[in-house]
Parts: sequence; structure tokens; C-alpha cells
Amino acid sequence: MARIFICTTCNRYTPVAAGEPSPGLQLAMAMKRAAAAGGHTVAVRMVECLNTCPQPCAAALREPGKAVIRFGKLGPEDAPALLAAAEAYAETRTGDLPARAMPERLRAKVTGCVTLGVLELARS
Ligand code: FES
Repeated sequence: MARIFICTTCNRYTPVAAGEPSPGLQLAMAMKRAAAAGGHTVAVRMVECLNTCPQPCAAALREPGKAVIRFGKLGPEDAPALLAAAEAYAETRTGDLPARAMPERLRAKVTGCVTLGVLELARS
């Protein structure tokens, strides 16, 4: 199953009115709506801070044993593209998603990628 982590504390620099959802929470809700509308199964994990605070909203693709791909500068309008990226990522063995598999609108929003090469050294 595809899954994505979304920071619900974004945008930490712009307070929202009491009772209003944060932009990050709006993104998470948009992801759930996009998944439901397309009949997709994706686990949306809501977390606090993905260390992309200066470029809100943030999300990450991560699974045990795979590279981590982190995004920033996201909005609810990116939800369908994020869903496609999460599904493509879920199909990879290593998390090394080829650039051609990354939806066009997300390519400039990748803020980081952590591979496992050095981590594997620490485990051996
Ligand atoms: S508050 Fe969202 S990445 Fe830090």
C-alpha cells in the first residue's frame, strides 16, 4: 500500500485563525479526498515537522529499507500528483524513483532525498 507522511504543523510561520485547519492539514485532507475520489488506497500519515519548515507545506515518501523523498512548497492542488508519486514510490524496491516517474508539477518541489548507502554500513 502506498503511504505518505504530511506535516500538519506547516506553515509554522503563519498562524491560522482559531478553528481553521493548518495548510498542512488542508493538504492531508486533500490527499484523502483525492485517494477516495480515484478509488486509491493510500495511507496518509499526519506528522509534526519534516524539517522543511522554510518551504511549507512538507510531505515525505518513506518506507522501511527505502530511500526517503521529501517535498516542500506543496498545496492542496498538489494532492493528485502526490498520490501518483506515492503509488510509483510504493512500486519501487529501493525508493529510488526515476525522474521520469515523478509527476511534472512535483519535480521542482523535491527538497531532499536520503538514500540508504551509509545507513547500510552502520548496520553491518
Ligand atoms: S513545520 Fe512543517 S516541515 Fe517543519
